[in-house]
Amino acid sequence: SAGDAAKGEKVFRKCMACHAVGPDAKNKVGPELNGIVGRHVGALADFGYSDAMKAKGDEGLVWDAESLAAFLEKPRDYVKGTKMSFAGLRKDDDRANVIAYLATFNAE
Ligand code: HEM
Repeated sequence: SAGDAAKGEKVFRKCMACHAVGPDAKNKVGPELNGIVGRHVGALADFGYSDAMKAKGDEGLVWDAESLAAFLEKPRDYVKGTKMSFAGLRKDDDRANVIAYLATFNAE
């Protein structure tokens, strides 16, 4: 189902310790997430991904609404060996809403 970006902005507070998004976004503990919907997995040359995330990228995986929802539900199950230390978002709505929020940073 289509997410609500305004609600997703609030969900993104759970991500902000490690991720930035927007015009001045820099890598933090995690990579900046501008353009993440449609971005290849592990694509930022200036971020040090885990071998597990690099392997997913080498397989050709792209972040779309489906793969993001699966990753954000249980990060360590979807990318075994990921260094993203986050338990996941249990609620379907939270996942859909945060993905809708992130998608607002795709159009340039
Ligand atoms: C990776 C999203 C929470 C740390 C990623 C990636 C996405 C993402 C999409 C893959 C990026 C890429 O392929 O370039 C999110 C969202 C979060 C969240 C939406 C909140 C719901 C967190 C938190 C932390 C964190 C709380 C730190 C405690 C990382 C790290 C990576 C990563 C270190 C790289 C993982 C690796 O290379 O294995 N995140 N994240 N994230 N995230 Fe998060």
